[in-house]
Amino acid sequence: MARPSEADLPLFRQERVNDPEAALKLLAAEAKGCTRCDLYRNATQTVFGEGPADASLMLVGEQPGDQEDLVARPFVGPAGKALDKALEAGGIDRAQVYVTNAVKHFKNEPRGKRRIHKKPDTSEIDICRWWLGNELDIIQPNVVVALGATAARALMHKALSINASRGRLIALEDEMKAVITVHPSYLLRLREERDKRREFDFLVKDLRLAADAARRS
Ligand code: URA
Repeated sequence: MARPSEADLPLFRQERVNDPEAALKLLAAEAKGCTRCDLYRNATQTVFGEGPADASLMLVGEQPGDQEDLVARPFVGPAGKALDKALEAGGIDRAQVYVTNAVKHFKNEPRGKRRIHKKPDTSEIDICRWWLGNELDIIQPNVVVALGATAARALMHKALSINASRGRLIALEDEMKAVITVHPSYLLRLREERDKRREFDFLVKDLRLAADAARRS
């Protein structure tokens, strides 16, 4: 079969090499109409990643929550606030980081006036990996941080234990490295102040490890 010509490739692929920023904008525009799985049905809109197209550090969360779904920006709700605190404590400027999610629609179950968060299942994560793969391809960060098990699965293509995987750099393809750590919402679920402090420090340490390696590469 003949290889597709440049003109036959999706627009974001044509732009990818010469202008990553334009490629990312085209990719985000295409994602707005995503119906690859059923999650768009209960969501307000696609929540795509945001940040510089030349970021050396990328953070990947699970999926947008209620607030993210309403404003179409990742990590702006309670988990986002916890993430911002950890980034600040690690001396990491969020404006320099590309922040995205493994799954781009808010999976929820309407219950009265509330929308109850539901974890994406493996088929939804795998289907949505198409977008994450293209974000990685365009941005080519030095280091990607998987925040929690969903992001770790999307990135590593298999289920992993966060505790056994965190605290070190893991080699990926194309000289990229991954750091696997907890999702910031985990900190919000802890009851004891002492546990919260310990886990916060541990998250900051993982983020610092990633940011230092991203700068060095
Ligand atoms: N949790 C996530 O994983 N991502 C968001 O954008 C918000 C909450």
